[in-house]
Amino acid sequence: MELKQDSDNNVSYEALELFQPATAHKATFQNALDGALDKVSSLVPKFGLRNPRMGIPGTHRYAFCIPDEWVASFWCGQMWLAYSLTGDSRLKNSARMRRDYFKTVLEHPRWHDHDLGFLFSLSAVADYTLTGNESSRAMALRAADFLAARWRQPLPFVMCWNPMLRDGPEFMARKTGTLNIDSMQAMALLFWAARETGQASFIEIANMHLETSRQYLVRDDYSSYHAYEFDPRSGEPMSGYTHQGLHDESCWSRGQAWAIHGFAQAYLYTGNIDYRKTAAKMANYVSEHLPNDGVPLWDYNLSADETPYRDSSAGAITAAGLYTLARCYGGGAEAERYTALADKMLLGLVEHCDLTQDKDAEGLLKEGAAFVGLGRANNLLPYGDYYYLEALMRSVGHSEFFW
Ligand code: GLY
Repeated sequence: MELKQDSDNNVSYEALELFQPATAHKATFQNALDGALDKVSSLVPKFGLRNPRMGIPGTHRYAFCIPDEWVASFWCGQMWLAYSLTGDSRLKNSARMRRDYFKTVLEHPRWHDHDLGFLFSLSAVADYTLTGNESSRAMALRAADFLAARWRQPLPFVMCWNPMLRDGPEFMARKTGTLNIDSMQAMALLFWAARETGQASFIEIANMHLETSRQYLVRDDYSSYHAYEFDPRSGEPMSGYTHQGLHDESCWSRGQAWAIHGFAQAYLYTGNIDYRKTAAKMANYVSEHLPNDGVPLWDYNLSADETPYRDSSAGAITAAGLYTLARCYGGGAEAERYTALADKMLLGLVEHCDLTQDKDAEGLLKEGAAFVGLGRANNLLPYGDYYYLEALMRSVGHSEFFW
């Protein structure tokens, strides 16, 4: 749906022309999707009320979240997606049993950052979308209010990170004025809130954030900075840098993935052609830097002396974003091109990283790279698992998600 604003700032929607070309690997992906659904179902009693955080090194088992974790909603999101396909009420009940966790997040403003998007789209928005639960709607709108309130003049974006003592003085000082690429996914919560309430300010803030991102996080060759620092007093742009990539001028593959998915998604909400074009050119960059097996390494600019860790999560997020992007063209050569690239990346994951047939594995994908600079590579990652499920669903034609 394309979002329109009239001169009185009222929001309305017009249908966009959307079309999802068929995948060339339908049977393979349907089979992997069935395996993923079985795996999610089998993990419900095992995880109980715990939310997976990151794989325990050297195993295919998870360590679990403490209260303030940006990854806490990805297991919930998997259960809601699985519920949307199977109708199994165990999945719905288990996802709902996490309400107190997310309620506590809302009650702690100190924990609020751009990750409110991940946390509430995949929990409260998901519940409301699938079941019409009004208290979940209210929770999601409250989260959207908190997120929108992170826009502080003169910075032309929603404040992403909070300065913390544990960051050390240099990074702490930098964080206030930093726009990061991980925040691309959070804009969907604002667009959703605009649609629910008719309140145009949510859209204006999301569009400002996306425009600033297009201008500063995306480079001329359509690679991306992980982060861009602005002067918090004047709002003047300063320079791009990395936190989780190889170096300041390299292209962190998961960052590129967040942006492709985020801009494609933003096109679906707004019909803004610039968003679709940016996602498409960033996808072309991926295509030119992707290993032949279709699974991205953790940074697209690794030199020969770096350890070539894969990042299966970057592959899953990018594949889900590419299927979304393909849909945005309403058919034609571009739709076919981005479907073929999505297929290549998803097939790479199915063939090299899929754990759904490993009965002891507690996740769907191996070989995620959480933060190579801190020695966190070769992990199970709950966001890798979530986006793998989303990509498998998109590959076989599903189009209803929580973004
Ligand atoms: N913090 C977001 C990421 O690691 O991708």
